[in-house]
Amino acid sequence: MTPFIWGAVAVLLGAIPTARAEEKGGDSGLRVLLSQSYLPADFDEAVFDDLWTTWEEPLRTQAAAASVEDRRQMAMERYGLLPRPDDPTRPLQYVVGPDGQWSMNCLACHQGQVGGQMIPGLPNSNYALETLTEEVRLVKVRQRKAFGHMDMGSLLLPLGTTNGTTNAVMFGVALMRHRDADLNIVPRSPRFDLVHHDMDAPPWWHYAKRKTLYADGFAAKGHRMLMQFLLVKENGPEKFREWEDGFRDIEAWIESLEPPRWPHEIDPALAQDGEQVFRRHCAECHGTYGAGGSYPERVIPIEEIGTDRVRLDSLSPKERSELNGSWFGHHGRDAESLRDRESPAGYVAPPLDGIWASAPYFHNGSVPTLWHVLHPAARPVVWKRSPTGYDQRLVGLDIEEAADMPPGRLTAAERRRWFDTRKPGKSASGHDFPDQLSDAEKKAVLEYLKQL
Ligand code: HEC
Ligand code: HEC
Repeated sequence: MTPFIWGAVAVLLGAIPTARAEEKGGDSGLRVLLSQSYLPADFDEAVFDDLWTTWEEPLRTQAAAASVEDRRQMAMERYGLLPRPDDPTRPLQYVVGPDGQWSMNCLACHQGQVGGQMIPGLPNSNYALETLTEEVRLVKVRQRKAFGHMDMGSLLLPLGTTNGTTNAVMFGVALMRHRDADLNIVPRSPRFDLVHHDMDAPPWWHYAKRKTLYADGFAAKGHRMLMQFLLVKENGPEKFREWEDGFRDIEAWIESLEPPRWPHEIDPALAQDGEQVFRRHCAECHGTYGAGGSYPERVIPIEEIGTDRVRLDSLSPKERSELNGSWFGHHGRDAESLRDRESPAGYVAPPLDGIWASAPYFHNGSVPTLWHVLHPAARPVVWKRSPTGYDQRLVGLDIEEAADMPPGRLTAAERRRWFDTRKPGKSASGHDFPDQLSDAEKKAVLEYLKQL
């Protein structure tokens, strides 16, 4: 089993609150995230404990021979779930109610591990939502249980075609279609023109620096905007009002998170050289770090950045302004400052604090290491990560690289372990700025990036 570093988990649970969390009102937001079910149940314990019966060989035979507890650990690893420190038989990513029903929480996409270590606010780059949902459905049929909202929803729209990334943005658009600006439910026919694509969630410790939200930076920042995830039809408009206070706490906790420190050695002289290179070539977009640092939150036109444009094109200016004009955006409270943001020309250059920990990179999670960000021509076409491996040399995920998908028939679950950059929305091209650097300068910048 993965050797988790329990100290980090204790920090996560607020047993040792960070200084910033204390100052901003503590960790009650985390407690809300871990204990409140906002969504209808996805499945119960009996379903979870039978999932192994759907696995491919030899895993199924191994699971058959294992104890119930070990099988649960195997299931958590398969679906990218992390054990709760106070009850390792249950995952952080689901809230288990007193009735034994499991429902997904925000940590499903927003709490992961790097090198087996859990860091508060680190995105979950292992989450296998589509595989989990598919296998839950198979078990429910066998156990003659009713389908839930996820089981049905995933028949209408893809949840995520590569583990660790999800179609979350389009879930939001699909659900918002059935609401007016006050979030009253207005039944309409589903949309079939959505441009489905998978996104890599950003680390939550950037939230404090951001004035607007999301990869294209169009959305009004605030606790209400974070509630879109609750738009299922079971939650009427009154629920959103009722739950607002909980989300004030959740937002305060997210705002309090700090980037993790690089846990290995650094060459200080090389990093210092790297800082000079960074100031010349990168800071105009990504800002400066350390004492007196500043973050410009610049939107870079798509023609200039050249990364995958599907996410940018998937939302219309009208959809963006309707979201900001709805209850989620306090009915356009920030309209003045968001005017230029609602038809963005490209993507926001994100803050790079704690960047060593939040691989894979770019908004679609297409680039596995910082070395590959710095060497555009050498980025892998097809790659697969090891579940918890960390590559200290290339600074990022430990991967297996290939020119093509492996030959032979893969099960859907196996296929989703591979990232294929040739698929729509998954391009790893662009951000060619490092091409102006010599190899020595790239090496220095890589060293500097470790300490941000
Ligand atoms: C199914 C996966 C998923 C779930 C569940 C989820 N998110 Fe996200 N979240 C994402 C993705 C993907 C993005 C990036 C979207 C983009 O940039 O277009 C995101 C973006 C965000 C951001 C914006 C950060 C930034 O810097 O722009 C915040 C904050 C956030 N989510 C909070 C939450 C909260 C709070 C919940 C629970 C109520 C939640 N998310 C549930 C996937 C998810
Ligand atoms: C002209 C503006 C610009 C310059 C110059 C620039 N970047 Fe970026 N950078 C961006 C944008 C925009 C993104 C987001 C791209 C995306 O997600 O599609 C990005 C993304 C990144 C990421 C991935 C961040 C993440 O969380 O996934 C890293 C790392 C990065 N840049 C490092 C650098 C370094 C190092 C340099 C200097 C050699 C540099 N950038 C120069 C605009 C810039």
